Amino acid sequence: MNDAYAVDVEEVFKSFGSFKALNGVTLRVRKGEIYGLLGPNGAGKTTLIRLICGLVEAHGGTVTVLGRRMPDIAVLRHIGYMTQQAALYPALSVEENVRFFAAINGAEDGVREALGLVQLWERRGSVVSTLSGGMRQRCSLACALVHRPELLLLDEPTVGIDPQLRVQFWDYFRRMAADGTTLVVSSHVMDEADRCQRLGLIQYGRLLAEGSPADIRAQGGSQNLEEAFLALAGRRES
Ligand SMILES: Nc1ncnc2c1ncn2[C@@H]1O[C@H](COP(=O)(O)OP(=O)(O)OP(=O)(O)O)[C@@H](O)[C@H]1O
Ligand SMILES: [Mg+2]
Repeated sequence: MNDAYAVDVEEVFKSFGSFKALNGVTLRVRKGEIYGLLGPNGAGKTTLIRLICGLVEAHGGTVTVLGRRMPDIAVLRHIGYMTQQAALYPALSVEENVRFFAAINGAEDGVREALGLVQLWERRGSVVSTLSGGMRQRCSLACALVHRPELLLLDEPTVGIDPQLRVQFWDYFRRMAADGTTLVVSSHVMDEADRCQRLGLIQYGRLLAEGSPADIRAQGGSQNLEEAFLALAGRRES
């Protein structure tokens, strides 16, 4: 595979019983790129992210991450994964949660920076079960990036996050990408999609369009990204 790619997904198929969740997806994400995955509920975004980090195995095709064929446990320490539903230990404090993920990866020195980034340093002693939903999202993000991964997989990272902090998150995502981190972000929010360098539109387990936000607007025939996306989605169905 080309070394410029952090993620190389080639003709991947994944079924759950007789249901084809991914039906021949090919996509490549360059190192340092912010790649957005868009698509309706059930399109296959989370399944694709789980395949990229090796949590589920494809029934066909190949997934290569940072030069290694997945699944490969050795690659995991270079990946940060923020799941769609926050996966935290509710009885532990904010700091204990982040420290746990840091320790797994030998990165305890990153705890303070990660908690500062998500603005939870002051609340580091709070037990997670007592946090608001948005704070839990922030804690979850801190856990995903505390070990400074080369590839960050973010499954709808800003759901429940207030607009101010969302802007800050994106500033940080951009800085990480500028430093060489690769980000794959799923989202339903079009102004977030617009912040990605490239977008992949997924529907019925297939990639139906791909390109920069400007490309997607052109392909969908609208200056409005949401309208362009809906036009592209409708075109495929008919
Ligand atoms: N473990 C599983 N067992 C059975 N079906 C599954 C499983 N995981 C996913 N699916 C199905 O695969 C399809 C794709 O699901 P996926 O979670 O990837 O969608 P998504 O694009 O992330 O949707 P959303 O926007 O709602 O998060 C859905 O129809 C879902 O029900
Ligand atoms: Mg999902």
